[in-house]
Amino acid sequence: MRVRYDTVAMTLHWVIAFGILLQIFMGLVMVHLAIPIGLKFQLYQLHKSIGITVLFAVALRLVWRLTHRPPALPETMPALEKTAAGATHFLLYAFMLALPFTGWIVVSVSPYNIPTVLYGIIPWPDLPWFSTLADKQTADTIAQFIHDWLGYIIIGILLLHILAALRHHFLLRDNILRRMLPFGDRT
Ligand code: HEM
Repeated sequence: MRVRYDTVAMTLHWVIAFGILLQIFMGLVMVHLAIPIGLKFQLYQLHKSIGITVLFAVALRLVWRLTHRPPALPETMPALEKTAAGATHFLLYAFMLALPFTGWIVVSVSPYNIPTVLYGIIPWPDLPWFSTLADKQTADTIAQFIHDWLGYIIIGILLLHILAALRHHFLLRDNILRRMLPFGDRT
């Protein structure tokens, strides 16, 4: 029986993990720090580019997850912990999709109408219905509020996820973390 994740699942997991951590860091810096306006603008552009890339990677990961069964959890793991792990993973997928999507809504309803050009190369459209709203100011306030709070909440969910992985590795000493590491054992 296979006990490790396959290469595609593993690659997407670490690409998305790195992307999301970068997005949280960049989002907090560009919104809250008093940085030069030129740098702020560039960070916003990069945040939008990486965010849309994460959206594609998460969609791909979800399709892969639904068509490729992940390795089974250890039989010794209590049923409650298995349920908790499943619930956290479900929440993570929901937030990983909702975050980029609400970010896309934020730029679509923005009264500033700044075009999105991914990595300075690929013109990216606003979302059809949102970009034609009459009261863009109110929509912008609501969309920003939702996107920001999803960002704060995912930090908590990620902490839970990371602490659980570390607990398995260092306290329970099972293979839960290793089976997601490219350089883990080959079993
Ligand atoms: C995984 C994807 C994403 C994550 C984790 C993320 C996270 C964040 C965070 C933490 C903030 C700062 C919130 C605050 O403290 O006010 C932020 C702000 C922002 N994000 Fe994202 N974001 C993602 C994707 C996107 C995408 C795809 C777009 C647009 C296409 C976008 C557009 C924005 C904008 C315009 C702001 C500033 C909003 C404001 O002024 O309050 N984000 N994001």
